[in-house]
Amino acid sequence: MISDIAGERAELLEAYQENRKRSRFLFDLPSSKAYEDRPIPLRHPFVFYEGHIPGFSFLTLVRFALGAPAIDEQLEKLFQRGIDPGNLSEADAAAPQAWPSRDQVKAFARECDEHVVDALRHARIDDPSNPQLVHAEAAYNIIEHEQMHHETLLYILHQLALDRKQRLPVEYHDAERPPYRRVLVDAGIATLGARRGAIPFGWDNEFEETTIEVPAFEIDVDDVTNGDYLAFVETGAEPPPFWRRENGEWRLLTQFDLISLPRSWPVYVTQKQAAAYAQWKGMRLPTEAEYHRAAFGSPDGRERAFPWGEAKPDSTRGNFDFERFDPVPIASYPSGASAWGVNDLIGNGWEWTSTPFAPLPGFQPMASYKVYSADFFDGEHFVMKGASPVTNARLIRRSFRNWFRADYPYVYATFRCVAR
Ligand SMILES: [Fe+2]
Repeated sequence: MISDIAGERAELLEAYQENRKRSRFLFDLPSSKAYEDRPIPLRHPFVFYEGHIPGFSFLTLVRFALGAPAIDEQLEKLFQRGIDPGNLSEADAAAPQAWPSRDQVKAFARECDEHVVDALRHARIDDPSNPQLVHAEAAYNIIEHEQMHHETLLYILHQLALDRKQRLPVEYHDAERPPYRRVLVDAGIATLGARRGAIPFGWDNEFEETTIEVPAFEIDVDDVTNGDYLAFVETGAEPPPFWRRENGEWRLLTQFDLISLPRSWPVYVTQKQAAAYAQWKGMRLPTEAEYHRAAFGSPDGRERAFPWGEAKPDSTRGNFDFERFDPVPIASYPSGASAWGVNDLIGNGWEWTSTPFAPLPGFQPMASYKVYSADFFDGEHFVMKGASPVTNARLIRRSFRNWFRADYPYVYATFRCVAR
């Protein structure tokens, strides 16, 4: 917790402005004719997200938490909430007759930004008497909300035809796969979640702290690669969602190109496909607690903040925080390895677990975003841990949990197997 409110304001303001800059960059990637495209049919078009992100920030911090009046009731309502519809007709029903023009959306966004920036500078954003502002909850919420949207926006952009987006020049590297290895992780304690007040901010699903006794198990040192998974596909298994078949060769659809399949990159698959591969190998996916043991536990019995120790995440520790849009060969970051020598537990793709997304003991919906997690405790979503190449470093903390449906094919998620 930052006790110095001036320092905290400056830090939040800087994060907000950096976020807005990245949002502008990302929303300029789809070509203008694709502005109302819905490349993932069960998600909204780009136009929605360009209004939703600043609209959510304004509503959450300025209007709902601080009690300011509306800017534009209609646009605020239109942009308020993303959809997680069960089917296409629900998705169609959620769309308005006509979207506002891009100029209108940008004008609305500018107005939201002015109010948010003013609030971050001057308003009482840390207010123990207002549940939405305890430890400046709403202010942190809007920062991380936008950062998570940057990643999901890139999932959507990834599904947009290459000729409907700006293609940034990218260099790709494949490498020799290091020999397959697994290591033994001793029995011990895994600490999931965090104590309220012990971290500057966490989402509701990160509380309360809970400790779990985990029996010993063996875990793959590296993620399963495209090359590894190819052997499984050749037995007749379903190919991973980002693979394409062209002239009898497997290719990989990256954010901006279609390239020959990099055998040494972690494979991105659904949780279902990951579990099927593990079973084929006579192994299984790690549980959330086993991920924690492998990532944060150590042979001396202590738990670390990060796999590599206590130092803050930086570009030497893993492939995350927008250094690039795509993976790199496995084992590229020896200085990011965990105490057991397990590689890439943070970065280069989220790690699937076999654990259904569920509340930790003591869970309470957060005051500034009541529906954030609670709607997803349905046994159909599974926990992912770690980070992808386009996960903001700010979201990298031990207690952070991500989740998706077992068959959702658009996420940057990989896996490794465990035995015993
Ligand atoms: Fe959102």
